[in-house]
Amino acid sequence: MKALILAAGKGTRLKPLTNSTAKQVLPVANKPILFYVLDQIREAGITDIGIVVSPETNPWIKEVVGNGSKWEVEITYIIQPKPRGLAHAVKIAQHYLASSPFLMFLGDNLIKGGVKGFVEEFNTLNSDALILLKEVSDPRSFGVAEVDSSGKVVHLLEKPKKPKSNYAVVGVYLFTPEIHQAIAQIQPSWRGELEITDAIQKLLETGKEVRSHVLTGWWLDTANKHDLLEANRVLLDDYLKRDIKGTVDSQSQIVGQVEVRQRARIENSTIIGPASIAEDCRIHSSLVGPFTSIGANTILDNTSIKNSIILENCRIQKIKHISDSVIGRGTEVIKRERASKAVVLFVGNDTKVEI
Ligand code: G1P
Repeated sequence: MKALILAAGKGTRLKPLTNSTAKQVLPVANKPILFYVLDQIREAGITDIGIVVSPETNPWIKEVVGNGSKWEVEITYIIQPKPRGLAHAVKIAQHYLASSPFLMFLGDNLIKGGVKGFVEEFNTLNSDALILLKEVSDPRSFGVAEVDSSGKVVHLLEKPKKPKSNYAVVGVYLFTPEIHQAIAQIQPSWRGELEITDAIQKLLETGKEVRSHVLTGWWLDTANKHDLLEANRVLLDDYLKRDIKGTVDSQSQIVGQVEVRQRARIENSTIIGPASIAEDCRIHSSLVGPFTSIGANTILDNTSIKNSIILENCRIQKIKHISDSVIGRGTEVIKRERASKAVVLFVGNDTKVEI
C-alpha cells in the first residue's frame, strides 16, 4: 500500500499567511498540519508516500518536510502544474502509484484517531474504495454521499445545492487501482476541475463496490482562519501534555496543560492551558491562554492573549485582550504611548486588521 498526500492547494482563503508559505505546513498547536498527516500515515504502517505539490507549494513543503527521514519513510514529490482538481492530481501521480492500492489524504484534513483502523478495514474488504464520511449540519460545500443501511455508498455528488444527506465526504480515501479507469472516464466539473467525487461515482456506475465509514470523532478541514483556530483548539485540547522545558520564574504561574519548549522564558506571567509556547520565546508580564500557540522566538510583553495562533519571530507589546487572532511570521504589534490617537500601520498584502 502506498499513500498519496495532496498538497497542491493554494490556500487562497488563508491569505496573507499563504503568500509566503503553504497552508499544509501552517502550524496548529505549534506543529505543521502536514506533520500530523505524516504521523498518521506512518502509524498505519505505510512508508512509501507521494506528495502532490504545485509549483508554488513545492519549495515551501520540501523545506519543512524534507526527504521524510524524520518519519523513516520515503517521499516522492509529484508536481501538479495547474490546480485542475483532486482526480487530476491522482492522474498525474498514476505513474508513481502504478498498480498499488493507496491511501489518499488531503494535506489540509485531520481526523481524530488516525487512519490505521481504516487501512486495516480496507485490506479485509473486497471493495474498490473506502471513503470516510462525517455528519454535518450543512454539507453543501463538500462532496455528499448517500449510503444504504449496510454502509455501501449508493450515490455521490460534489457540492450539491440540495444535498440528499448530511454525510460530507472527508478528505481521506482508500482506493484500488480501479480508480484510474474511473478517472479516465470523467469530465471536468462546473468549476473546471476533475473531481474525485465524480470518479468515485463513476466506480459505482460501472458496478464497483464503494464502502463508507462514518466518523464519530472530530474532522478538521483547515480552509480558513476560523478552521485554523478551531484546529488549534482541538489539537491543543486533545494532544498537549504538560511539559515545561524552558524556564519559569517565581513570579509566574502555569495552569493546566501547558508546553514550554526549550530556552523559552516565562517572566512575571500567567499561562493558562491548553497552550503551547515554542522554543526561544520570551513571555514577559503577560497573560497567555487558553487555546493559544506562540511560535518560536516570539516576544510577548505586557500583553494578554487567548484563543490565538502567533507564528515565529513576532513581537507583541502592550496589547490587552488579543483574541481569536492569527498573526503571521515576523510581525510586530505594538501600542505606543503618544498624544495622537492615530493608528499607524505598515501591513502586507491581503491583511485584515480589526480595531
Ligand atoms: C474537497 C473534495 C470534497 C471533500 C472536501 C473535504 O473539496 O472535493 O468532496 O468533501 O475536499 O475537505 P475542496 O476542498 O476541493 O472544495
